Amino acid sequence: MYPIFLTDDPDAFDDIASLPGQKRIGIYKLEGFIRPLYEKGLTSVILFGVPLKDGVKDAHGSKVDDPEGPVILGIKLLREKFPELYVACDVCLCEYTDHGHCGYLRKDGTLDNDASVARIAQAAVNYAKAGAHCVAPSDMMEGRIGAIKKGLMEAGLAHKVALMSYAAKFAGAFYGPFRDAANSAPSFGDRSCYQLPPNARGLARRAVQRDMAEGADILMVKPGMPYLDILRDTAEIAEDYPIAVYQVSGEYAMLWHAAEAGVFDLKRAVFETLEGFQRAGATLILTYFTPLMLDWLEERE
Ligand code: PBG
Ligand code: ZN
Repeated sequence: MYPIFLTDDPDAFDDIASLPGQKRIGIYKLEGFIRPLYEKGLTSVILFGVPLKDGVKDAHGSKVDDPEGPVILGIKLLREKFPELYVACDVCLCEYTDHGHCGYLRKDGTLDNDASVARIAQAAVNYAKAGAHCVAPSDMMEGRIGAIKKGLMEAGLAHKVALMSYAAKFAGAFYGPFRDAANSAPSFGDRSCYQLPPNARGLARRAVQRDMAEGADILMVKPGMPYLDILRDTAEIAEDYPIAVYQVSGEYAMLWHAAEAGVFDLKRAVFETLEGFQRAGATLILTYFTPLMLDWLEERE
């Protein structure tokens, strides 16, 4: 599954300095970008909205499900032009809030969990209504899976839209390049009150069980490489579920720069990381290396 950054300048086709080889794409450029990948066998994408226009961000991230925003337009375009492509959507407020946090804040700056969850659920349902096959809330707040599932059921969509939970998501250093790409770094504090601390194996196991109980259809571990034990735990706890792993922006950039510096051959190193994910129990891998993998897999045949 290939993560795609969709921005609100329709003509954008911009390099992302923090993620060499990746692009920020406008709606007019999306079909042309996806077409060659689709022809090489791309089967799934996950969309991230990156609003960059002046004045679009506000305290409540109101533009998250703007019907004219890049994500909703992107879902519709991809569904129409690429009938076999599986279209997932990240659901979060941090790209749309002026403070950069993943939810609503109270006056004292702490996170208002319940109000955030209600809004996130509404956004997820709106992505589903626009045609997303899968919605993936990445905020890690308490109760969001249940709220989204309920919203999908009420909208009559729960039987055809998958709910992928970023179930075991750790707060750490590996999201930096993404936050640059998505312009979503928190303006103060960090995400450690909603994401897990790196040493928290028990909390991760509990979060996976919590999200299963709330109705998740796919469980994700994120980041990937430093958390293979958590991936294995998740595959064992949720043995009848698809298990996803997100090889995040910092992992991508690290591998890319290491290969540039002559540390190793990129192709060999990337295969090794992805095979590691499979060995640990992943059945779905989200990676920025998807386009390169499509080429490399072709060479292997
Ligand atoms: C938004 C979100 C993030 C990522 C996916 N969804 C950033 C974060 O939580 O700070 C990270 C993806 C990556 O680093 O590649 N909540
Ligand atoms: Zn977020």
